[in-house]
Amino acid sequence: MSGPNKSYDPVQVTPLNAESVEAMVAAALQAFAAATSVAELKQARAAHAADRSPIALANREIGALPPQARKDAGARIGQARGRINAALKEREAEVSADELSRMLVAERVDVTLPVELTPVGAVHPITALMDQMCDVFVAMGWEVAEGPELEAEWLNFDALNFIPDHPARTMQDTLFADPADGGIVLRTHTSPVQARTLLDRDLPVYVVCPGRVYRADEFDATHLPVFHQIEGLCVDKGITMGHLRGTLDAFARAMFGDVRTRMRPNFFPFTEPSAEVDLECYVCHGSSVGDPANPCRTCNSEGWIEWGGCGIVNPRVLQACGVDTDIYSGFAFGMGVDRTLMFRNNTADLRDTVEGDIRFSRSLAGTAR
Ligand code: DAH
Repeated sequence: MSGPNKSYDPVQVTPLNAESVEAMVAAALQAFAAATSVAELKQARAAHAADRSPIALANREIGALPPQARKDAGARIGQARGRINAALKEREAEVSADELSRMLVAERVDVTLPVELTPVGAVHPITALMDQMCDVFVAMGWEVAEGPELEAEWLNFDALNFIPDHPARTMQDTLFADPADGGIVLRTHTSPVQARTLLDRDLPVYVVCPGRVYRADEFDATHLPVFHQIEGLCVDKGITMGHLRGTLDAFARAMFGDVRTRMRPNFFPFTEPSAEVDLECYVCHGSSVGDPANPCRTCNSEGWIEWGGCGIVNPRVLQACGVDTDIYSGFAFGMGVDRTLMFRNNTADLRDTVEGDIRFSRSLAGTAR
């Protein structure tokens, strides 16, 4: 093992001589200047200023030098490292400021740009109207009942006293589920809920049933193969036509304001007597009748609008559902919801209600009275 170097040994100080140190500094400064990002500068720092950089390695040689040379080299290296570190610090500040401003430009958000609004839906006018109709009855203490759209033929027809060869039972009017003789139909009205309610619930019953119904109809401005009805059924002791009339008047007033109703005799297999319910035109109140100068679009200047069917529940229906007709009687009614929307909101074309254009729904939103 050799002892400490007493003599000035030029071989050992090569990395420490002024020229080499100057070259290291120059290389470091050049590398720092060339770095244009924080990441590049990090690499340049590792190469020129960190523990394994030439200047750091040179620094390690100092200890082996004789005293005077050690002092000179120490001063030189110290000064060089000072320059390198100062340059690094300066460049670091520049590069990160640059990077920040580049980022600010690249990620700039123009807060004045219009926001892309995600369109939100709207309650469909038919749904809104059905809810409103139900509310009128719920406020009078009635309940809301529901039944399936795919219905037993027996409940849709037989329980409601439709005779076996009633024309409504043909394929022309009714959509039968496969197989056609399987006894399942797409309900043609909400009236089967009458039978379901009587079979399911204890008496007395006061229910309304809103829902979708199906008929093998054309699809045009005034017909839809799928439409909506609201059914009402009351079965209690001592129910008369007077109760029916009063209920329909209350319903009409809640929906249309100060209007009267009238009944015209009609026939339905499940009510006896049966009637057609007309609504006094809530726009012209009859003033347009016989006055061509003053026509009314809502009632076609007829003064009355056909609204639905009603009647006293046929005892045969009550009996089919096990109700003692010596004690109980009832009334029922059924209205078309789409039709009601048509004359209530002047929607000219029923197809608008199924096309799903949100502008249609929005245009009627808030028109509820
Ligand atoms: N279900 C009948 C239809 O679709 C409407 C109807 C008439 C319902 C008289 C009733 C009623 O409850 O009593 O045309």
